[in-house]
Amino acid sequence: MLISFLGVDGIGKTTLATALAEDLTERGLAVVQTSWRRSLGTAETPWPGVALRQLWLETFRLIYANARGGDGPIALPADFRDWAHDAWEDRLAETAVSGVRPVGPLAAALVELAGNVVYFAEVIRPAIDDGKIVLLDTFPYKHVLKELTLARHTATREGTPLIDSLDRFMTDFFGDPSMQPQIGVFVDGPLELAYAWRTSQNGRVGLLEDLRAAGLHGESSFVAMQQATATRFREVAQRWGWLRHEVDGSGIADNVSRGLRLILGHRELARRVGAGVVEGV
Ligand SMILES: Nc1ncnc2c1ncn2[C@@H]1O[C@H](COP(=O)(O)OP(=O)(O)OP(=O)(O)O)[C@@H](O)[C@H]1O
Ligand SMILES: [Mg+2]
Repeated sequence: MLISFLGVDGIGKTTLATALAEDLTERGLAVVQTSWRRSLGTAETPWPGVALRQLWLETFRLIYANARGGDGPIALPADFRDWAHDAWEDRLAETAVSGVRPVGPLAAALVELAGNVVYFAEVIRPAIDDGKIVLLDTFPYKHVLKELTLARHTATREGTPLIDSLDRFMTDFFGDPSMQPQIGVFVDGPLELAYAWRTSQNGRVGLLEDLRAAGLHGESSFVAMQQATATRFREVAQRWGWLRHEVDGSGIADNVSRGLRLILGHRELARRVGAGVVEGV
């Protein structure tokens, strides 16, 4: 079984997924909480490990292909080990960039898709076939949408139809039954809370969490990026029949326990949990 989450950056998907993993593990069920990012540190095998690392790095190399930082053109390393060792993701998140053109994020969205095709087939599917409950903190449609949003913000009017076309394709692709989780959870909530939580967590927003690559800065840049995805999440969550969990300012414990109740009440999971308890006895 695959359980996955959608929601804007910093809204509490990982927090809820982690609590769910603990809860299900305590009930004696085999759970694996996973993401493409988490697989990067462990996957050294040529296939799919190296492919997952190279595709991951290439999304960033494409997005920033034409970018300039304070000191001139941004030259990202071609080797994943250099990218990781030199903490390029953090460095980019702290650099004011300009010059991003839509071709970069557009191509990055396609590489993002390629990486997820590999990741689903070679990491997620085998774990499901192994009888595990797989928790994927973020359904990768989110990353693709953010890349398309960045492309839109740097595109001319003539470039927009191509982005629209890719957007429709991606929405169909991720909506296909073979990509959809058995339980999808849309975590909805005010963008101001997501911004406050993320900045108090890390002191700043992360790479691609705002539109700085399109020259927009500050909280309004975060809101502009997130608003675009939040609106879409609401639409697709309804179309795809996902659960909707609404977070508020009542604190982590309260939000998590409401979220857990919602997810554990899902018919498919209630059945697994029931069976797990019986096996445990
Ligand atoms: N209900 C809440 N109240 C207060 N803080 C929260 C709440 N939920 C999450 N947080 C905090 O907000 C921060 C972001 O949460 P989390 O990492 O779970 O978000 P996310 O949706 O997984 O983000 P991303 O999209 O980047 O993966 C964390 O520091 C977390 O502790
Ligand atoms: Mg997360």
